[in-house]
Amino acid sequence: MFSTKIAGIGSYLPEKVVTNQDLEKVMDTNDEWIQERTGIRERRYGKKHEETTTTMGARAAEMAIERAGIKKEEVDFIIFATLSPDYYFPGCGVLVQRELGITTGEAGALDIRNQCSGFVYGLSIADQFVKTGMYKNVLLIGAEMHSMGLDFSTRGRNVTVLFGDGAGAVVLQPTTEPGKGILTTHLHSDGTFAEKLAFINPGSHGGYHMGRMDEPMDFGYSDAEYGDIFVNQHMLDNGQLFPNMDGPLVFKMAVQKFPEVIMEALQKTGLTPADIDMFVPHQANLRISSFVQKKLGLADHQVWNNIQKYGNTTAATIPIALAEALEAGAVKDGDLVCLAAFGSGFTWGSALIRW
Ligand code: UT7
Repeated sequence: MFSTKIAGIGSYLPEKVVTNQDLEKVMDTNDEWIQERTGIRERRYGKKHEETTTTMGARAAEMAIERAGIKKEEVDFIIFATLSPDYYFPGCGVLVQRELGITTGEAGALDIRNQCSGFVYGLSIADQFVKTGMYKNVLLIGAEMHSMGLDFSTRGRNVTVLFGDGAGAVVLQPTTEPGKGILTTHLHSDGTFAEKLAFINPGSHGGYHMGRMDEPMDFGYSDAEYGDIFVNQHMLDNGQLFPNMDGPLVFKMAVQKFPEVIMEALQKTGLTPADIDMFVPHQANLRISSFVQKKLGLADHQVWNNIQKYGNTTAATIPIALAEALEAGAVKDGDLVCLAAFGSGFTWGSALIRW
């Protein structure tokens, strides 16, 4: 029986730095508010017309593949996690395959829509394929190009200031080294609050879930049976083609679910918070990460935070942060690494990896 190890990891952050002061120029917000409430100082934005979720994912993937010491043709399965895909369909999995130049048709590609916990979900899926011996090299990518889909008016400030662009990737391989690799993964979801952190248009809902929204909204549907549901001029004119979030509710749920799902993983493996050497949380808010750190009794050097520099890159935060921690020598052979995420859906999850 195999375990699954991370054989190579890569990340990509676009060059353009957007500071809180830059955002102050386009909407009613301020550096003090953003830093105090979230910890974020700046984030990166991709280059319009040149970079996409797929291209950023491909750059991170190339690094992960090289570090894993394999040829790209040896990748036998791709999992792509994103909430900001290049196209509504097909997904970024096949686009990244093309971008990487591996179009032999050998490897399958799967796109997953699990938002902030996309990377942890992807890791768990990959783990099932690798430990059963089905695949030898699974490429898992988390990438986001948020900047192209945010509301830069004051109306969108509670969401827009949080998010940034970037990508991270890992290559997962089987290992027979005793006790090493992914020890356990835990996935959860509850759709009760699906609309509380969501990007609902364009979509096929046609207003069906209206009762779930805080107040009924006019999406500009006409009496015609077909044609104006997915997207229409009214949506464009009224700023209805952007993400929305009930921040305080998400915050409240996050600080509850993070510790819960981490403890679940520790209990499953007979470990305790004292055994964790490095905790890499999904980077949603520095206050959330600090809360969880305290709850677990971890010292500052045992938690990797980089939201200050990159904001929330959703499915990409964990692999970007893990890559950074490894490059800094903060994760050593034999260390216990804990990953955890919570976000839209709501979906949440955790993983424990013995390095
Ligand atoms: O990774 C995905 C998961 N997402 C999260 O985990 C996010 C969780 N939630 C949060 O991190 C926090 O709720 C936020 C950082 C989003 C917001 O912080 P908050 O302390 O919960 O603020 P709030 O939403 O309760 O808003 C407080 C005030 C409001 O003004 P009033 O009504 O008190 O006058 C907002 O309109 O802050 C205002 N506000 C802003 N002011 C300046 C909201 N956004 C901004 C802004 N700049 N960008």
